[in-house]
Amino acid sequence: MKELIILGAGGLGQEIVLLVEAVNFYKEQWIIKGFLDSHPSVQGIELLGFPVLGSFEDAYKFPNAHFIIAFGDPRMREKVVNLVNIYNLNWATLISPTVRLHRSNELGKGVVIGRLSDLTVNAKISDHVLINIHTVIGHGVEIGEYSVISPNVTITGGAKIGKSCFVGANTFIRDVTVGDYVTIGACSCVVKQIESNCVVAGVPARIIHQGPPVHSVTKILREKGEN
Ligand SMILES: CC(C)(COP(=O)(O)OP(=O)(O)OC[C@H]1O[C@@H](n2cnc3c(N)ncnc32)[C@H](O)[C@@H]1OP(=O)(O)O)[C@@H](O)C(=O)NCCC(=O)NCCS
Repeated sequence: MKELIILGAGGLGQEIVLLVEAVNFYKEQWIIKGFLDSHPSVQGIELLGFPVLGSFEDAYKFPNAHFIIAFGDPRMREKVVNLVNIYNLNWATLISPTVRLHRSNELGKGVVIGRLSDLTVNAKISDHVLINIHTVIGHGVEIGEYSVISPNVTITGGAKIGKSCFVGANTFIRDVTVGDYVTIGACSCVVKQIESNCVVAGVPARIIHQGPPVHSVTKILREKGEN
């Protein structure tokens, strides 16, 4: 049994508990030690019966544990991983037992794949990617570091998604290339190449604006000078 610490005590962090308990039900593998999160509002509390053990900077206190990043905002995922990487942490890879996964798929460290997702063959899923539930990933799809694929997304064979992208729920992506730091709105249909660092949405998906989403945590923190 290996110890697991979840970096992020929000909704996604608690969904990771759900996933780990499903993994353990199938075969006992993980002891959840708790969460680390630097937000003052969660210090000292318990979530789903597991304690918040401190802030991200406390990661060094758990040299034997494995860690997993649990933020839905890819920029936040990247920021926290970069923050704690100085401690040379062990990263967990968490795959729901109900995922269909062929041996030809390449998975990086820190990857999470939620229940009933289906990866066909030869996909390359980079470090710290989150593939949420009920998602279909076609042959040879590439997904860059920190990217987040929301529930019920379909990505067809040959598509390339860049680093730190967010793909909203129920979206369809054809065999096209999506740049880095792209946000794709929920229920979109992506049929053409998308350049880096923009927000797109709609059917067919079109650019709404450049940069991060207007309502993203990253943008709000940046405006407050905290990011
Ligand atoms: C695209 C998204 C990121 C919003 O980005 P934003 O930069 O904050 O944009 P705004 O909300 O200010 O919307 C800007 C415009 O785009 C439109 N828009 C926003 N999301 C859209 C979507 N998914 N499809 C079509 N149009 C959309 C808005 O109606 C608005 O149009 P208007 O200017 O004509 O009023 C967000 O709406 C979205 O779809 N998020 C995904 C949520 C999700 O799937 N979460 C999964 C959780 S598991």
